Amino acid sequence: MISIAKPVVEKEEMDAVMEVLKSGQLAQGKNVKLLEEQFAEFCGVKHAIAVSSGTAAIHASLAVLGIGSGDEVITTPFTFVATANPVIMQGAKVVFADIKEDTFNIDSEEIRKKVTDKTKAIIPVDLYGQPYDYDAVKKIADEHGLKIVEDACQAVGAKIDGRKAGTFGDLATFSFYATKNLITGEGGIITTDSAELAELCRRFRHHGQSEQTRYEYYELGYNYRMTDMQAAIGVCQLKRIEGFNQRRREVANMLTKGLNGVKGLRVPFVKQGVTHVFHQYTIIVDEDFPMSRDELKAALHERGVGSGVYYPKPLHLHPFYMKMGYKEGDFPVAEKLAKKVLSLPVHPLVSDEDAQKIVSAIKEISEEKND
Ligand SMILES: Cc1ncc(COP(=O)(O)O)c(C=O)c1O
Repeated sequence: MISIAKPVVEKEEMDAVMEVLKSGQLAQGKNVKLLEEQFAEFCGVKHAIAVSSGTAAIHASLAVLGIGSGDEVITTPFTFVATANPVIMQGAKVVFADIKEDTFNIDSEEIRKKVTDKTKAIIPVDLYGQPYDYDAVKKIADEHGLKIVEDACQAVGAKIDGRKAGTFGDLATFSFYATKNLITGEGGIITTDSAELAELCRRFRHHGQSEQTRYEYYELGYNYRMTDMQAAIGVCQLKRIEGFNQRRREVANMLTKGLNGVKGLRVPFVKQGVTHVFHQYTIIVDEDFPMSRDELKAALHERGVGSGVYYPKPLHLHPFYMKMGYKEGDFPVAEKLAKKVLSLPVHPLVSDEDAQKIVSAIKEISEEKND
């Protein structure tokens, strides 16, 4: 089976974890500091703050911006739930804005329609590894004095005109979850150019204590720290991330070459100037394909090709969000795409032969059904 996700973990990571275990310093320590320094440099930002997950990174970012009760935060309904839940965790209101069909990312024109006096921030997502439309969203944010928290959880190393994901917001957030492009098992990091916000994030992950004065609590905080074992893995992965991402792009190119022109399928669109990191390689299965998305998924599984649906339902149609008044028809583009998207294996361990096998399987399935 060609699996949809597979972590690349080598001896280097294993040795690094063993070294931490032998050192006796298992909680946040020198590897966390190293990862923060190196990750900030990688993104081209002044500060990086390692945390226990991407969710924690988003929660901390909203908290340090002072988002709370009575505030509204605009985000996309076509994302993982952890983009939106931290808004609720802060007692604020999630306001969704529909997405664009080509990039799957939030539509700036839809954001514009949702801005009110209560809007405080926007959380655009770099979905599947393609940065959101920064120029257009930043313009709206500047016009209305809104903050941006970039959800770059899926986009480590992605770029717009050479500028890296992690720089497209007042704060940006990454996830190092086990299936991401860069992994630490669980884990995440926040990037920012603001020394003040960085210090607040450091306190937020540490029960509101500053790292200088322990047992002095300045505000509400959580235990969102990363362990030194996780950070040690992250430091190893960061050395190889450009290679991982390059391989993902190569696999994506092979898939696109092979699938381009198959009737009823749309291959991923990459915007001019964007360096996509293909956390997911996601095709759209249209009505003129001879079977439904779910039937194609099942047929691929039978032929030894794994695939995934990210995401089968937009957030506003889940019971938790429907209770807030959202309903079917509110975000037609997200609703339509949720029925049609299918992600194919694109991780660095997909070989050239695997990519060929994926293409052949899809073509055969399509032709058999057409006969
Ligand atoms: C877009 C997006 N946002 C947020 C998260 C949350 O990250 P984590 O699972 O590390 O909490 C993820 C990953 O799971 C994600 O893909």
